[in-house]
Amino acid sequence: MNSAVRAVTRRALDAGIEVYASMGGYYGLVHDVMKKLTAVDVANIEPLGGTVIWTDRCDEFRYEEGMQKAIATCAKYKIDAVIAIGGDGTFRGATDLSIRGIPTVGVPGTIDNDITASDYTIGFDTAMNRATEAFDSLRDTCQSHNRINVLECMGRGCGDIALRSGIAAGAIGIAIPEVPFDEDALIERIKKAEAAGKRSILISVSEGVAEKDGKPFGEYLTAKLNALCKAGEIKHDARFCRLAHVFRGGNPTLRDRDTATRMGAFAVDMVIRGESDRVVLEREGKLVSMEIRYALAVDKMYKGKLKDGDLDRFSEKEIAGMKAICEERRTEAAELSALADSLCI
Ligand code: F6P
Repeated sequence: MNSAVRAVTRRALDAGIEVYASMGGYYGLVHDVMKKLTAVDVANIEPLGGTVIWTDRCDEFRYEEGMQKAIATCAKYKIDAVIAIGGDGTFRGATDLSIRGIPTVGVPGTIDNDITASDYTIGFDTAMNRATEAFDSLRDTCQSHNRINVLECMGRGCGDIALRSGIAAGAIGIAIPEVPFDEDALIERIKKAEAAGKRSILISVSEGVAEKDGKPFGEYLTAKLNALCKAGEIKHDARFCRLAHVFRGGNPTLRDRDTATRMGAFAVDMVIRGESDRVVLEREGKLVSMEIRYALAVDKMYKGKLKDGDLDRFSEKEIAGMKAICEERRTEAAELSALADSLCI
């Protein structure tokens, strides 16, 4: 996200626009913790993880009182527009602000890659790479000890980190919320791999997969595999690993810095053109924009969270467009998952 902060700041300053950072995410607007940014303030921040403006979630911003305090802060600093970098919660806040008269543009930033309408969100590549490195490290012990390691990957309800890093690491099984997971097929693949002399076996599990037997799915699966090993049905015993927030930190990759830079500059250009209540998206390698409420509706549709009335304001054509985006995402996840399974020994 730091590359986005840098790009927004420098692009705006270049156009003669003053820039304030709302420190701590929306917290800064709610509690008047604003920092005027100079070009030097954002120098050399590209390699840093986290954000130099302490991006965080802000619960108070979800309520009218917090929103009104934010509007007062905008008036105090003569804020003409807000660029909000984050995930769906950030965008809900952004659209609430724009409804109340503060022009707002969203930039998708979350390791989860779960802004359905965007092919990519800032942070995803770094998290995938971190997860892949973790798999590679786990592989070493598995290789010497004839072992299975199950790695749980963050991603909330989206399996993209588990899926992509699982593929990159050659996982024998990948469990993600988007695709039904066949435990029997996994066990057959493990037996086949053991028969072929495979020593190390990796399994990738997204934290979003539903719990089973009262346990997070990865822990349940590890226990099941160990029970099978004890019963002599498979040869490898299993270990479970959860690295959680480790995936969310560290030096950002080139892909993230590049995309964040382009998205940040694009967002400023939108503000200059007078656009509001819109979010920057990456579609097929190009930056485009979409109405925030449309993007949020696509998200709810994909995540099965639509409530009565959520689609009332959209035309049939728009709803068909949403369905097409969701279908695209589902097909991609199913195809990649099938590809991964087909490449195992
Ligand atoms: O949305 C990003 C994310 O890191 C998810 O992958 C994860 O489920 C969640 O945030 C963790 O939230 P917290 O940092 O509040 O525990």
